[in-house]
Formats: sequence, C-alpha cells, structure tokens
Amino acid sequence: MKILVVEDYAALSAAGAEILESTVREKPNCVLGLATGETPIGLYDILVKKYAEGLDFSKVQTVNLDEYYPLEPTNEQSYRAFMNMHLFDKININKDNTNVPDGLAADVDKFCGEYEALIDSLGGIDVQLLGIGRNGHIGFNEPADELYPYTHLTALKEDTIQANSRFFENEADVPRSAITMGMASIFKAKRIVILASGAGKANAVKTLATGRITTACPATLLHLHPDVTLICDKAAYGNN
Ligand code: F6R
Repeated sequence: MKILVVEDYAALSAAGAEILESTVREKPNCVLGLATGETPIGLYDILVKKYAEGLDFSKVQTVNLDEYYPLEPTNEQSYRAFMNMHLFDKININKDNTNVPDGLAADVDKFCGEYEALIDSLGGIDVQLLGIGRNGHIGFNEPADELYPYTHLTALKEDTIQANSRFFENEADVPRSAITMGMASIFKAKRIVILASGAGKANAVKTLATGRITTACPATLLHLHPDVTLICDKAAYGNN
C-alpha cells in the first residue's frame, strides 16, 4: 500500500482528483467506482471544475459502493441523491451509465447478484474510490468476525448510525441497513484509492498503517490488493 500524507483536506482532494482525472483522460470509457460521505466532496468539486475546463465524462461509467436500505433514491439523504447533487448533475455523464445500488430493491438477494454481475459485465472497475469509517469500515463492510465477499445487505453498526446521523434530522431517521459491495467486489478494481481526512480517522489510519490484517478493521484487508494508494491528511495520519 502506498501511503501519501498531504498537508490538509484541500491537498487530499487535489491528489485524489488527479488520479481520477488522469484515468478519465487515459481511458475515456473507464469505469470509476465511487463513494459518498463527506470525504470525497472536495474531490468531486474539483472534477466538476475539470469538466468546466473540458474534461469529458460522456463515455465514463460509474458504480457506487453502497446505498441505504430501505430508502427511495429521491430521498435527499440517499446516496443516489448525493451523487447526483455533488457530481452527476454537474458533469456531462450519461446518467444511464451511473449505477448506485437500489435502496428499494424488492428482492434484495436477487438485486445483489445482479449488481455483482453488472460490475463484471463492465469489465471491472478501473479505479475504486473509498473513504474509511472511524471504525475502519469500507463501503458498509463493518468490523465483524466474518466479512462478506460480494454485494449484500448488511446491518449498520451503532457507531456508524451515530456518525451518519449528522446528515439526517433525527438519528431515528437513519436507515438501519444498507446494500454494499463486499470485499471481493471492491478487490475486483484494478486500482484502489482510499481517502482519510481529519483526526476522527486517526485511529482507523493507525490500525491500517500497522500493515497487519484484521476483520476488526475491514480496511486492513486492502493490504492484500496489489495497487492501493492511501491518501491522508496530517490530521488523519496522526503520530504514525
Ligand atoms: C460511503 C461509504 C462509507 C464512507 C465512510 C466515511 O459510500 O462507503 O464507507 O466512505 O463512512 O465517511 P465520511 O467520508 O463521511 O467520513
């Protein structure tokens, strides 16, 4: 795992955006794996600026990591709404080429199988962008004795519900489950970029930086992937 420590959030956003931008320039029909949450917002803002300067997203395809369940895509807290608001509505991407798990899937197991098949049919993800939870989760693969390889429905941990309640009016409104890509789905990406910003991520980054692997911190499994770049700001890197 390459670890890039940068000064602050602005530098982290710029470094992450540069990787996605160069991927789009080199392969206009690339497949980008995308994440939501607070961390990638600055990166998406930069991509929107790059679009204004001529970067072409018309052939790009995207696959998002996760979506709350149950939650309708029109709900402003849905990850579909997040992606539309921060990126898709502001660039020339074909919305038909953007994929976010269906928070209203009637048959979840069937949907999860189809999502996995979709990732494969796109020929794999060129670059997968990840954030990291304070507890070390990636996507919604939460710390546990066992992790799931493929796209699945999962219950959110209490600390994740609390962390995400900042986006909802009440904690009670946070959905208790989500559909998420699994560890093997994430590992299908040719390249993985994981972003960590702020002191709240320092514990998770510290565990990651030990280089050891434990399902108690799912992000540590990324040490098994051949091409991972961790970009963190100084606050997240802490005293490592
Ligand atoms: C979001 C996702 C989550 C977040 C993580 C960090 O699609 O998969 O794993 O990346 O919870 O969230 P923020 O960036 O809000 O700290």
